Amino acid sequence: MPPTPDSVARPHGGPFGYFDDARREYVITRPDIPLPWINYLGCRDYFGIISHTAGGYSFYRDARLRRLTRYRYNNAPFDVGGRYIYLRDDATGEHWSPSWQPTQNELEDFTCRHGLGYTTIASRYRGVEASTRYFVPLDEDLELWQLTLTNRRDVVAELSAFSALEFCLWDAQDDATNFQRNFSIGEVELEDGVIYHKTEYRERRNHFAYFACSEEIAGFDTQRDAFFGPYRGWDRPLAVERGQSFNSVAHGWAPFGSHHVRLRLAPGESRQVVFILGYCENPNEAKFDPPDSQTINKRKAKATIAAHVRPGAADAAFAKLEAYWLERLAVCRVETPDVHTNRMVNIWNPYQCTATFNISRSASFYESGIGRGLGFRDSNQDLLGFVHLEPARARARLLDLAATQLPSGGAYHQFQPLTKRGNNDIGGGFNDDPHWLTVGVAAYLKETGDWSILDERVPYDNRPGSEEPLERHLERAFAYTLERLGPHGLPLIGRADWNDCLNLNCFSDTPGQSFQTTANKDGNVAESVFIAALFVLAGTELAEIAMRRGKAKYTELYRAEAARMAGTIRRHGWDGSWFLRAYDDSGAKVGSHECAEGKIFIEPQGFCPLAGVGLADGTARSALDAVAEYLATEHGIVLQQPAYSKYYIQLGEISSYPPGYKENAGIFCHNNPWVMIAEARLGDGDRAFEYYRRINPSAREALGEKHRCEPYVYAQMIAGRDAPTFGEAKNSWLTGTAAWNYHAITQWILGIRPDYDGLVIAPVFPRAWPGFSVERAFRGATYHIEVVRHGPGNRVSLTVDGTPVPGNVVPPAPRGGARVEVEAVVQ
Ligand code: BGC
Ligand code: NOJ
Repeated sequence: MPPTPDSVARPHGGPFGYFDDARREYVITRPDIPLPWINYLGCRDYFGIISHTAGGYSFYRDARLRRLTRYRYNNAPFDVGGRYIYLRDDATGEHWSPSWQPTQNELEDFTCRHGLGYTTIASRYRGVEASTRYFVPLDEDLELWQLTLTNRRDVVAELSAFSALEFCLWDAQDDATNFQRNFSIGEVELEDGVIYHKTEYRERRNHFAYFACSEEIAGFDTQRDAFFGPYRGWDRPLAVERGQSFNSVAHGWAPFGSHHVRLRLAPGESRQVVFILGYCENPNEAKFDPPDSQTINKRKAKATIAAHVRPGAADAAFAKLEAYWLERLAVCRVETPDVHTNRMVNIWNPYQCTATFNISRSASFYESGIGRGLGFRDSNQDLLGFVHLEPARARARLLDLAATQLPSGGAYHQFQPLTKRGNNDIGGGFNDDPHWLTVGVAAYLKETGDWSILDERVPYDNRPGSEEPLERHLERAFAYTLERLGPHGLPLIGRADWNDCLNLNCFSDTPGQSFQTTANKDGNVAESVFIAALFVLAGTELAEIAMRRGKAKYTELYRAEAARMAGTIRRHGWDGSWFLRAYDDSGAKVGSHECAEGKIFIEPQGFCPLAGVGLADGTARSALDAVAEYLATEHGIVLQQPAYSKYYIQLGEISSYPPGYKENAGIFCHNNPWVMIAEARLGDGDRAFEYYRRINPSAREALGEKHRCEPYVYAQMIAGRDAPTFGEAKNSWLTGTAAWNYHAITQWILGIRPDYDGLVIAPVFPRAWPGFSVERAFRGATYHIEVVRHGPGNRVSLTVDGTPVPGNVVPPAPRGGARVEVEAVVQ
């Protein structure tokens, strides 16, 4: 494929750094950027978040219930507290932080390289180079801080290195509030230079944390105030200033972890120091050693530490992590004429999808880790960008989600990953929730062809004895809506639908009352056109599934109900030029030209065509033209227009936001891909791709001063045109935007789409592109797909392994690593 001028990968670069695609890293070149830019450490159970100046924290499985280290959100400066190392020149007494924070010395050559599962922060200060690589080895419940120091002076350097972190007393919510108790319970042990944090181990916990160092230590501190000194903080610790730890032992107050290492480096010499922060569980009956003591049984922890301080162990663990990511990224690789598409699809977007799969909406620099666990609708949608990467974990997640479904077919809005139990803290009764399970299961079936998942017996609300096959859960989800139709035959909205802030039964007039849990109305009137479209999509998927399972009666039922709902949308959900959004509790229209504000909403314009509604009768085209006219901006598509300028009690939280932010006419990036998919379904590849490009973070890198968030991941929101900060991104990382954009670009614009019977090749891409190629692993074989444009349309002619094939589906090749050559000529 001949390169177009745009296809040459330029080191674009933004104001704060650049992409190093060859190493799959983003390189931040100065520490004082507008916001902390973060990365995630960990793949399975042990996780951490880390900013470009080493701020952040770690947890085991659940950011709320098993927090290892403490972090204070919304601090000043915004990001302080983390995995810090202090260096001290013992000849002059001068000290600094090689990660810039918290001492903020003028460093030379500062770089932070965020890579896949690791972050390396490097700098030089007065001839001493320091580089720290932070990562969590695969399948280990620990993190390594691999510090390499190099003396570039022409004289010997006498240095001290201090590690520093603050332990959290496990339950992060309690840790941040229950001081009358917590100031008295902190406990540690020290053995062989290892700091063991064991608060509450004496009673009901069987887990502890340890913080170890590969080198012999000159001292330690485990009490925060001793290390910092009276009235001092992270920026001026007394232990570092004076060049000697206090060897403090925490009794109550604030357990801390700090090692002091002395190093003598000859000119040109490099030394490595590895710090290990880990989590360890003991069986209840073997908690103590000796058994009748209160001393932690450290056998397991010691063995783990020994294995990781061995020379070469950290490098070997890192090599494994790299290999793991390379293997994952190889599942789907694209080569298009657009560098931003390639970079996002091949590296950062699947990486972000993995983070949303792992963390859902729980822990980022905008989600405190104590607010939400795994969301039911969120986690199901996240699978759209994850299922091809690790089908087995996607399968397990689907079963976990289904087990929190209620017998009514409805769902808890979220569950805690540690307990896997539904959590009512942020409510239930969001009437869109149950259908996302169908969307998730359908994506899994199309990717894997593993029909056995439908026969898995899964309980409701985790109640033993209530098990039914997963297929039956999906039937109940469908019935949930049929049993909850409103006056126009559209689905009742309940607490809210996808838009958590369209609270049509809430009517809150009390400050501080939660819009997410308050309902003052009986909920029998307000209806959602969005849920209607989602129901059509779910019904269509269920009909396909039932047909393939030979269940003719169900096939008919699902088809008929989906068609009936599509008809209802046509009759009661169409506003003349676009789709209506909802009916409120008084039966008044929401998202209609008749409204004074909020006349048109993005969700139904994107989702109706996505679900196949209005494709044939021209309504979808008209709705999407209205999106282009009223909602599309240079920074993305806003959620609705005009923005609500005041609070409407009958609409809820949406009107609580100042115009242009969040759900009140912000660019809510999650639903932009619905419009991309809708445009693709209608055959307009230019528009679909243009919408994709506008919110692609890499393509926005050059706008860094305005965009402000990380250019390597999507943010939930970009301020809309009504906001004074139009174009400014917020709430990066944990958003359904990741999965939906991945889905839109790979499956609808590039059009390589796993389906029940094989790999559909249906690209709808820019007319100016001569073509592109894709390498896709699918059900045990690898497909090399060359798409070549011969004409401006979207009609595909397929050749598979040299033989022309009618239609646009490549049938699955036999498993076992077959390589299939596909050519798709598009005219
Ligand atoms: C936010 C929504 C979010 C909801 C969930 C609201 O304040 O605006 O985006 O989904 O909280 O708790
Ligand atoms: C963020 C929530 O996590 C998601 O569930 C919701 O759909 C969107 N906000 C829109 O309100």
